[in-house]
Amino acid sequence: MTSIGESLRAATARLTEAGIDGARLDARLLLAEALGKDGTWLFNHANDELDASVEAAFAALVEKRLARQPVSLILGRREFWSLDFTVTRDTLAPRPDSETLIEAVLAELPDRQAPLSLLDLGTGTGCLLISLLSELPNARGTGVDINPDTLAVAQGNADRLGFGARTRFIRSSWWDAIEGRFDVILSNPPYIPSGDIPGLDPEVARFEPLDALDGGADGLDAYRLLAAGVEGFLAENGVIAFEVGAGQAPDVAVLLEQAGFPLRAIRRDLAGIERCVVSRR
Ligand SMILES: C[S@@+](CC[C@H](N)C(=O)[O-])C[C@H]1O[C@@H](n2cnc3c(N)ncnc32)[C@H](O)[C@@H]1O
Repeated sequence: MTSIGESLRAATARLTEAGIDGARLDARLLLAEALGKDGTWLFNHANDELDASVEAAFAALVEKRLARQPVSLILGRREFWSLDFTVTRDTLAPRPDSETLIEAVLAELPDRQAPLSLLDLGTGTGCLLISLLSELPNARGTGVDINPDTLAVAQGNADRLGFGARTRFIRSSWWDAIEGRFDVILSNPPYIPSGDIPGLDPEVARFEPLDALDGGADGLDAYRLLAAGVEGFLAENGVIAFEVGAGQAPDVAVLLEQAGFPLRAIRRDLAGIERCVVSRR
């Protein structure tokens, strides 16, 4: 029999040896999952002995992590804006950096009670749209994705989190199947330059969908299509907020300006990287 503390130390050492950043936290999350407990429980029970069945379940989870599966995919969920989102092989796992986009949009909305319409292009898990709806009680949202399996995950998240009645999800390549005008148009499109994808961490390059990553030769393909279409879908006085990759903010701001939408703000993430471009009519 092994104690929780000993098991954690052994797993952390194996993950560290394999070059995995944040090995200790990952080991804790995986053991908590094997036990069906949370992190605080683990902390308070470091000397408890593990059953053989939990030890075996934990070992299986650690093997997956050693094969570089991201923890969010192993657990099948990831927290974003204090909400728990289901994550699958068909979705990009929500990133903490993307919360910058939520803050940026909210900063542009003086009245959070207004009956706003939101459009999220490339919705993935639906994390951006659903998080905004959680702050805007009278808003309704449309999430768009090219991948029907991704849309099923987003719909499931909206239903489970209690936003199903205020959301609809549409399969469309960017603007192709969209109708109507929206007060807020947001997107976190694929923005990695194609040539950089093989050099990404294996957690991303091997386990996240290429459609969610590949932004074409310079990473800006989706922004060109998005900027070119905004005019037909943004309501009077509407807000546009796009997440961008490191170094892309000036180019994306210019694309939107050329489409007739002056820059309002470029917002940085917690690491100080320009992460979000906000423009308005
Ligand atoms: C970077 S992920 C963002 C996912 C989610 N919004 C988030 O922030 O975590 C980009 C998303 O765009 C979708 N996508 C890629 N090409 C698309 C297209 N032509 N039309 C609509 N969605 C597309 C991908 O399937 C993926 O879900």
